[in-house]
Amino acid sequence: MSLDTRKRLRKRRDMAIRMKIVIGADHGGYHLKKTLSGFIRQSGYEVIDVGAFSNEPSDYPEYARLVAEKIQSKEGWRGILICGSGVGASVAANKFRDIRAAVCHDTYSARQGVEDDAMNILCLGARVIGEELAKEIAKAYLQAEFKNLERYRKRLSMIKEFERQWTRKD
Ligand code: RB5
Repeated sequence: MSLDTRKRLRKRRDMAIRMKIVIGADHGGYHLKKTLSGFIRQSGYEVIDVGAFSNEPSDYPEYARLVAEKIQSKEGWRGILICGSGVGASVAANKFRDIRAAVCHDTYSARQGVEDDAMNILCLGARVIGEELAKEIAKAYLQAEFKNLERYRKRLSMIKEFERQWTRKD
């Protein structure tokens, strides 16, 4: 296979992945997950829903793991995690290598979190914000692109180094 063909195939695969959004929620975020999944699908994306599939009490670390693993394995491009406050989900997701998760309850942070910090999991608190704001935030997040500036790359590699140190001491 020629280099050109390989490049073209890789580009096609990357484009396909970019349309896949992984979403997960505990019982606190179950209803908002349903609403957001519909909204994201209508916006042209494929949604990979890792649960929960009912509003029975469940544990947010489990959904954080499922979403994080699908981002790590590149089955999905970006993730969205929802719990009551968004906090537990973000704390859990950030324990996974290469995951940069944050709670954003405004569109500015959702956009800038991607542009400057390469955030790859957006965390939302279903008990904190309403559905319409959640949709606006998800839209800002999904439309944003990492700016890939030298200073942003440098900061990301500093964070990567924290991950390396953490693994070494463990
Ligand atoms: C569950 O009651 C709640 O603690 C959880 O959804 C989340 O808010 C944790 O941060």
